[in-house]
Amino acid sequence: MIQHVAIIMDGNGRWATSRGLSRSDGHRAGAKQISVVADAARKMGIKYMTIYAFSTENWKRPQPEVATLMSLLREFTTDTLDQMMENNVRFCISGRVEDIPLIARNSVFNAIEKTRNNDGFTINVAFSYGGRAEIVYAVNKILKERKSDKPVTEEEFRNYLYHPEIPDPELMIRTGGELRISNFLLWQISYAELYVTPVFWPDFGADELRKALESFAGRDRRFGGLNLPSGDAVDK
Ligand code: IPE
Ligand code: IPE
Ligand code: MG
Repeated sequence: MIQHVAIIMDGNGRWATSRGLSRSDGHRAGAKQISVVADAARKMGIKYMTIYAFSTENWKRPQPEVATLMSLLREFTTDTLDQMMENNVRFCISGRVEDIPLIARNSVFNAIEKTRNNDGFTINVAFSYGGRAEIVYAVNKILKERKSDKPVTEEEFRNYLYHPEIPDPELMIRTGGELRISNFLLWQISYAELYVTPVFWPDFGADELRKALESFAGRDRRFGGLNLPSGDAVDK
């Protein structure tokens, strides 16, 4: 069973445009889907869900769109807090938390604090997140905190990432059809299975998640080795 699924929630803008709505309407519809998909994932036995909500590159978007996304972060952390407490869900952020503007800051930190000890399911929101920024953050943390001068191992390095306690995702889903990573979880997805669907994020629900998990279940994960059916001839 999958412990951790990571999702690039893409396609809000195209979903809205195709309906004659504004891009912000698309983001609002997308934000509503987060709880739907998180609930479904939790009920399917998944333990962690990392969702890409705002990248370090998304600051380039027009100011009104950025402002809508900041408001949605505040609304999400305010409106779903009771539900998260009820369902034993922990909320956390991966990203440059110092970039989160004042309008969203209190509700974000409040949600992190209140849900800190919940251990049924974790929603990790990648916000002002970049995979490269995370790696550089880890390097700087090492330079500042590490006492030893022994070479750093991969296992040790991961302890300096934003959330070392969250295992690497086994599956990474991208909605909206683009075949790229867009600077998401560069370290953690080294062996994740990729699943791309043309479905836009506001249309991605429990059934779509089930399809992704079915696809994952059919993958042959070799991790560079060989999965030989027993009895197969092996070179001596
Ligand atoms: C994803 O939807 C949400 C964010 C990047 C914040 P987009 O806004 O990128 O939607 P498209 O890709 O333009 O359709
Ligand atoms: C990736 O989507 C970031 C998020 C979903 C938050 P983008 O829409 O920003 O990615 P590009 O621009 O297509 O690479
Ligand atoms: Mg996009």
